[in-house]
Amino acid sequence: MAFRIDTDFQGLQPGAPRPADPIAGCRVAITGGTAGLGLALVKEFILRGASVAFVARNRAGVDQVADDHPGAHGIAGDVSRKDDIYTIAMQITGELGGLDVLINNASSLGPVPLALLGDTHCEDLESALATNLLGPFRLTKALLGALAASAREGRGAVVLNISSDAAVNPYPRWGAYGASKAALHHLTRIWNEELAEEGIRFLSVDPGDMDTALHRLAAPDADPVTLKRPEASAREIVDSIAALLPLRVLSTEGNR
Ligand SMILES: NC(=O)c1ccc[n+]([C@@H]2O[C@H](COP(=O)([O-])OP(=O)(O)OC[C@H]3O[C@@H](n4cnc5c(N)ncnc54)[C@H](OP(=O)(O)O)[C@@H]3O)[C@@H](O)[C@H]2O)c1
Repeated sequence: MAFRIDTDFQGLQPGAPRPADPIAGCRVAITGGTAGLGLALVKEFILRGASVAFVARNRAGVDQVADDHPGAHGIAGDVSRKDDIYTIAMQITGELGGLDVLINNASSLGPVPLALLGDTHCEDLESALATNLLGPFRLTKALLGALAASAREGRGAVVLNISSDAAVNPYPRWGAYGASKAALHHLTRIWNEELAEEGIRFLSVDPGDMDTALHRLAAPDADPVTLKRPEASAREIVDSIAALLPLRVLSTEGNR
């Protein structure tokens, strides 16, 4: 599917209100924003008028995406590393002046090539859990204060964790990844129950099988034509977040 070019924000007169899209003016952080679904999310949020900070490990990749998308704040960091989390969180809130939406998207497959559980090294299971479960848990915890403040201010607050059908289906060879995604999915549901009163909403979303580097690593023989474009998944995800946010009518002067 071709990437949609949305011209909603072009041609506005200075001072005119922006179109009614709850995403416009949102402050959004995305982990894994330099490739695949994460990059498609960065593009979609920017297109719809959000302020975006994104995270990935490879600094050259981060700088490239930031250069290609003026206004997007690139942060080099590894969400699987405990020591990186507070620095990442501080940079997110520092760059955006707060936070309305967090998307935990960065992911590890565990062993590559995928392996039966009996052949999976403990370190590969640990790696999948560190990136897919502990990273999102730590980053969410570090950003809860900013999200709660946003909810109190009536801006809305959403944490969306990217799941997978491997979280619910026992696919052979997907054990490390599937177990980590199942745990993330359940964690998301519990966060949602516990923080509903604070006004922070939690979503767990399976984006579908997409034509990305991660999918090529996992299933090198898959025909890309049969796979979803990450841009299509990104639009669906942004729409599902928009449905949970209050409408903001903003001047073109910005939202801060
Ligand atoms: N592709 C599919 O078919 C599919 C299906 C179901 C669910 N999903 C889920 O969709 C999400 C996106 O997957 P994708 O296919 O778009 O992946 P991808 O193409 O491999 O992109 C992964 C992104 O995450 C970054 N990243 C990886 N590990 C990181 C870490 N520890 N810390 C920070 N950034 C990290 C990568 O950049 P660096 O390498 O520079 O860090 C890159 O920007 C994942 O949660 C995945 O599990 C994908």
